[in-house]
Amino acid sequence: MTVSDNAFRDDVLAGLSAPIRAVPARWLYDRRGSELFERITQLPEYYPTRTETALLTAIVGEVAAIVGAGEAVVEFGSGSSAKTPILLDAVAPSAYVPIDISGDFLRLSAAGLKRQFPTLPILPVEADFMRPIVLPEQVRGAHKLGFFPGSTIGNMVARTAVDLLRAMKDTLGSGSWLLIGMDRIKDVATLIAAYDDSEGVTAEFNLNLLHRINRELDGTIDISAFRHRAIWRDSHARIEMHLEAVRDTSFTVAGRAFAMRAGETIHTENSHKYGHRDARLLLLAAGWGVVREWTDPDDKFAILLAEAEAPRFAP
Ligand code: AVJ
Repeated sequence: MTVSDNAFRDDVLAGLSAPIRAVPARWLYDRRGSELFERITQLPEYYPTRTETALLTAIVGEVAAIVGAGEAVVEFGSGSSAKTPILLDAVAPSAYVPIDISGDFLRLSAAGLKRQFPTLPILPVEADFMRPIVLPEQVRGAHKLGFFPGSTIGNMVARTAVDLLRAMKDTLGSGSWLLIGMDRIKDVATLIAAYDDSEGVTAEFNLNLLHRINRELDGTIDISAFRHRAIWRDSHARIEMHLEAVRDTSFTVAGRAFAMRAGETIHTENSHKYGHRDARLLLLAAGWGVVREWTDPDDKFAILLAEAEAPRFAP
């Protein structure tokens, strides 16, 4: 058994034993989960990916004009992002450092980018970006532009998001930039549709967690006893994904017994949304001052350019 199997098992056993059952969202993204997420990004109801990609295309020229040429671009959780070439094309970087927890994904996308940008030094780092990261020696002295698209920050509750943004500032160093995508608060019907699509791809993505538990942790979960739920939690400005028991059900995971009543849920993911002020305050709380903010014409999605603030005395 690998370290990662243990971490998955520990998280699932602890999460299913908690008074409010919850499993960390990162466990949704195994190979199948990542494939399903890619399909989600193509769905007509799932507006974030296409809105952000179009917005990024429209604004990268302005970003380049502000940050100037020769930045080392550091992407957090690069995955298989189609947005990266749009940025790299515009900002004439001195190097590109993709950071991802999945080495397979990293190598694949690095190879693809190498073909598109044959003279650009590409320096992948296989790491969990939630922890402090040591950047490759070649970019230590370089001025840096962090890139964190996709509203991935929305997966995190505020205090974790601030911890991460502060860690990013430490990784990137003083005077660095951060270009970050953040999804906007909007009408509930649009939000719910984006997380409970008519084809049921998001449902499959969510239920895949139970398949994964059965497969990897010797689980006996009757998957037909669960359904996907997407809820707008207004008090926290977030979409929550849950797996809801549709009838009383019991099962074992790694030899441990669990029982759930009809209507009880396992909370599997948060997707926080941000108003104009919220986005700024979150960044400010971590020492990032917003320099520019762009949104699409319908204000569905925002891209913000922030600058690491120098430490100073405050009254
Ligand atoms: C990858 C976290 C940005 O919150 O919109 C999409 C994940 N979950 N549909 C999001 C997701 C269900 C997505 N993020």
